[in-house]
Amino acid sequence: MSKENEQTLEVYKEKANLYLANSIEHDRLDPAKAKQKREKLEKLITTNFSTLPKHAKVFEIGSGDGSNAKFIESLGFEVTASDTADAFIEATKHQGLKTIKFNALEDAFPEKYYAVFCWRVFVHFTKEDTLKIMKKVYDTLEDNGIFIFNAINREIKSIDNEWVDFEGEYHMGAERYYNYFSQSDLDNIIQKTKFKIENFHKDGGDNNNKWLVYVLRK
Ligand SMILES: C[S@@+](CC[C@H](N)C(=O)[O-])C[C@H]1O[C@@H](n2cnc3c(N)ncnc32)[C@H](O)[C@@H]1O
Repeated sequence: MSKENEQTLEVYKEKANLYLANSIEHDRLDPAKAKQKREKLEKLITTNFSTLPKHAKVFEIGSGDGSNAKFIESLGFEVTASDTADAFIEATKHQGLKTIKFNALEDAFPEKYYAVFCWRVFVHFTKEDTLKIMKKVYDTLEDNGIFIFNAINREIKSIDNEWVDFEGEYHMGAERYYNYFSQSDLDNIIQKTKFKIENFHKDGGDNNNKWLVYVLRK
């Protein structure tokens, strides 16, 4: 586990409550935009998860407030939400979701899954962390299982990585490590695994290219 991720998790441990409050506030400031973002994400999930068996087991890494896991559960899947910060774990449990404390770089997956979902988490991983996670996810997936994740696109940034405390939605009162990936960075890492890229697109931000979104198939 990188020092960068370890120190970032310390920030989440201390400040996850502030993160939760800020994201609710941010959505209230522009409900139409928040709704549009949510609908796009739900469409991505619905479309790709439609290839899975009914009631299949799904694992989410870094669930945060649990809203994605809750949506996946509403589609009839058996979801395990997870995070490392206690306040996030409480938030997901509060929604009635099965939740475990889970560090994706350190802990073994408890079971096999048909899908692993990991949204806005790769921002805190170095390239080495990323390869490690990909290999672990591959091993925990059932044959034909899928891995959906996104990462911030290096193209829209002037630097490779930074320690930063953003304003607004992502403000936490302490700096976290953010790593930015080019598409070829991620493609090269994926090539070191046995995953096939089933789907890729860019999305979000002012020019619809803030996030690199991948659907990988085992
Ligand atoms: C920007 S938040 C995103 C939360 C949620 N996925 C969402 O989209 O709202 C980043 C999340 O990644 C989690 N995270 C970062 N490193 C992790 C690791 N090594 N293992 C598990 N979760 C991690 C943090 O605890 C936090 O919940």
